[in-house]
This record gives sequence, structure tokens and C-alpha cells, in this order.
Amino acid sequence: MHSFLLRGNAVLTFALTVLAVACVLASLTDTLHSSKPEVNVEILSVDAFGRNPGGNDEVVLTLHISADLQSVFTWNTKQLFVFLAAEYESSKNVLNQISIWDSIIQSKEDAKIQRRTRNKYSFVDQGSNLRGKDFNLTLHWNIMPVTGAMFSEKRVLTGFRLPKNYM
Ligand SMILES: *[C@@H]1O[C@H](CO)[C@@H](O)[C@H](O)[C@H]1NC(C)=O
Repeated sequence: MHSFLLRGNAVLTFALTVLAVACVLASLTDTLHSSKPEVNVEILSVDAFGRNPGGNDEVVLTLHISADLQSVFTWNTKQLFVFLAAEYESSKNVLNQISIWDSIIQSKEDAKIQRRTRNKYSFVDQGSNLRGKDFNLTLHWNIMPVTGAMFSEKRVLTGFRLPKNYM
């Protein structure tokens, strides 16, 4: 009876150790894994630009989002949360960051994105700072692993500018 308990304890300890080591290895391979994502975003058209009823600048864009995030996936990747943010400076804020599109990618096969889309979420300023505004479009992706900590990566695309006048 005494030795039976001891053996049970040893087996459990061993199992837990193996599990812990597997988890550490899994998140370690994620850390060492270097992905080579390809990202490109184009503004196909500015479809509306003016003050919304709240008095804040609002712009409606048609975008072409293309990204190949297949290399981000490892055997330890559960899913990616991808979002596109418009980022710009204004007198009020050093960094305005507005999420205008997002998507959840659950498999490597789906990680090649080709999307022609309007901005899914409103591109609205806190004020009227958007005329002639230079801005960046940054594709962020949060990597949710099967085991280990979530981490995120991004690709900044620079050199976008909004029209000088409302339309
Ligand atoms: C765009 O990104 C570049 C590089 O990260 C940064 O230097 C620049 O300030 C950004 N521009 C705007 C308008 O936020």
C-alpha cells in the first residue's frame, strides 16, 4: 500500500514534468520561429469624406488588403486575430489609432488574405483633423498559441494621405 502510493505519486510527477517541458518547448519554438509575412494595403477609392452628424471628420474608404501570414503559423498556433489600424497624429493626441477592419484566421490555409472591402468599422476622428492628413495603415496580428503567452506582430505601411477637401 505504501509503495503503491509512492509509485502513483512518481508517475504523476513524471507526467506533469513531461507536460511542463512540452509547454516550454512549444512556446520556445514560437519565440525562435521567424515568420516572413507579406503585407500590402491599397486605398482603391475614397467614397465619402466629410463631417458626420456629431461634427467629427469621417471618411469611407475602399481598400484592397492583401497579406500572406501563412509563415506565422506554427504547430502551436491556435488562431490569429488580425486588424488593420489607421494611425496618425493630431494636435490632441500623439497617436490616434483607429481599427477599421479585422478578421480571425483559424488555419494556415486561410492565412492568405485577398480582400477588397470598405472599412468595416467607422474611420472617425475626434474632431476635424483629417483633411490633408498623412496617415499610416498598420496591419497588426495577435498570435494566440495553443500553449504559452499570446504575442503580437505588425507591419506598418506608410505614406497614405487623405484629400485636402471634403467631398
Ligand atoms: C508612420 O510610421 C512611421 C514608421 O513607423 C513613423 O515614423 C511615422 O511617424 C508614422 N506616421 C504617422 C503619420 O503616424
